[in-house]
Amino acid sequence: MPFGSWLIQWISRPFRGFGDSKRKAYMDILNSLEDTDKVMFVENGHGKKGLLVFRQKIKKSGTSVIYAGASLMEPFPVVYKLVNKKYCDLLLKEYIIMRSVWHRNILHVRGIHFSLKGNVVIMRMDAAYNRDLYSYLRTTEGYVNKPVLDKWMKELVSAMCHVHSKGYVHGDLNYKNILLTKDLSIRVADFGSADKKSKFKLTRYDPKFLPPELNSRRLEPIPAEYDTRLIDVWGVGVVLFFALTKHHPFTESITMSATDVHGNCPGETLLYDEDRRRCSSSYAKVVGKLMDYNAARRPKLCYIIRQDYFSET
Ligand SMILES: Nc1ncnc2c1ncn2[C@@H]1O[C@H](COP(=O)(O)OP(=O)(O)OP(=O)(O)O)[C@@H](O)[C@H]1O
Ligand SMILES: [Mg+2]
Repeated sequence: MPFGSWLIQWISRPFRGFGDSKRKAYMDILNSLEDTDKVMFVENGHGKKGLLVFRQKIKKSGTSVIYAGASLMEPFPVVYKLVNKKYCDLLLKEYIIMRSVWHRNILHVRGIHFSLKGNVVIMRMDAAYNRDLYSYLRTTEGYVNKPVLDKWMKELVSAMCHVHSKGYVHGDLNYKNILLTKDLSIRVADFGSADKKSKFKLTRYDPKFLPPELNSRRLEPIPAEYDTRLIDVWGVGVVLFFALTKHHPFTESITMSATDVHGNCPGETLLYDEDRRRCSSSYAKVVGKLMDYNAARRPKLCYIIRQDYFSET
């Protein structure tokens, strides 16, 4: 029996209780399926069955596969994060945290599904049209203009301030975990390393985004008195630095001029004059403050939001 007919028969059986409109919605999705689409039958953990449509593989990482697709629940494109069932608890934890930090600049997660075959767990989330900040910066020529930089700064600082106000630390902020919508609005993603501020441990992270006080002692546990939010503060600083310069801070050419004889780098000296000309004075100030080498001087994000210079742009 051709696959399409089998699918239609399958659907008409388990969903016999559905009204016409839901059945029609399923049929519309089926009719729009192209040859390359794959479907997966799932349930939501409470026995409610459904169908997910997978269109294009976006990325495969160590533990997950990311797919662009469609679902019956939303009239817009969605993205699925799939993990093997042995990582189920990790994905559920990520989902719960992302639901508890709901904010317009944090990626919205819409649901968790379990494949009927039982081997895969899937998180359903909004799609970010422009993928991640790194891919965007790599594929666009020239530098980002001032209004967009200012918008990113405001959105990222306010999203992360919100995460901290809910008692969580993201812990893996980097340009691949910052997604961009079609109108270049930021959506913070990948809360797979996140945890409550007091319980946070370094698990998965990109060392390029780790603050200096922890980078030098990566194998040791984080000292109990350390405020783990400072990891995100530094991470936001590095992301904003990269968005402006398309460079990593402390690469050879930049380090030479920016660090003092002790290897310390006061945040204010990080940016060259030519970088400062391409951004607002507010942006340069925020990057400098967040990337203060001295952790004791590095401000909380909620403090930054309250400063006059933050709202100047
Ligand atoms: N909702 C989305 N919309 C568009 N692209 C996405 C979305 N979610 C993830 N991606 C893409 O997939 C990549 C990996 O996603 P994510 O960081 O959530 O997975 P991961 O398993 O934690 O991967 P990694 O180990 O590389 O961090 C992102 O950097 C981004 O390019
Ligand atoms: Mg990631």
